[in-house]
Amino acid sequence: MSKDLETDSRALRDALGCFGTGVTVVTTLDAQGDPVGLTANSFTSVSLDPELLLVCLSRASRSTPHFLEADSFAVNVLHVGQKDIAQRFATREGDRFENTACESWSTGVPILTDSLANFECRKYAEHDGGDHIILVGHVLGVRYEAEYDPLLYFRGGYRELHLY
Ligand SMILES: Cc1cc2nc3c(=O)[nH]c(=O)nc-3n(C[C@H](O)[C@H](O)[C@H](O)COP(=O)(O)O)c2cc1C
Repeated sequence: MSKDLETDSRALRDALGCFGTGVTVVTTLDAQGDPVGLTANSFTSVSLDPELLLVCLSRASRSTPHFLEADSFAVNVLHVGQKDIAQRFATREGDRFENTACESWSTGVPILTDSLANFECRKYAEHDGGDHIILVGHVLGVRYEAEYDPLLYFRGGYRELHLY
């Protein structure tokens, strides 16, 4: 299906939604040491040497200023059993961390316990990404569960891939 972006502003979003992704919760600490986090599917691996990844954060998100201030952050990749966490970290109501089990590794940023994978990062760079900020992290530590199934996001909805 071909659409003219000038007459159909929905077309870009719909076309981008054809790219299936995983789902992550990106976390950091604010200046008071309180946990901050939001659901993000813009996660991408960037480089193996050095070990870099990126996530794009909306300039409109309340969390983004805290990520700009912080020098470290974590990316927590969610499994199929963590859809409730994905929804909680994408909504404004409620305390996102109240019922979310977390731990600390070397930097103290929240690492979501029992995720599909966790990446703890030192901030490496920030780039202009239009209405988003492109946040690049240097990976300090990783953990993953080899036999968890991934939570996916495709065409505007959560999907599940069952391999195990
Ligand atoms: C599946 C999914 C993926 C999302 N990906 C991103 C993303 O990559 N970057 C982003 O800034 N917001 C993303 N969002 C939106 C934020 O999670 C949402 O706006 C959140 O409420 C922001 O919280 P905050 O305003 O407290 O920072 C996504 C939402 C969903 C449901």
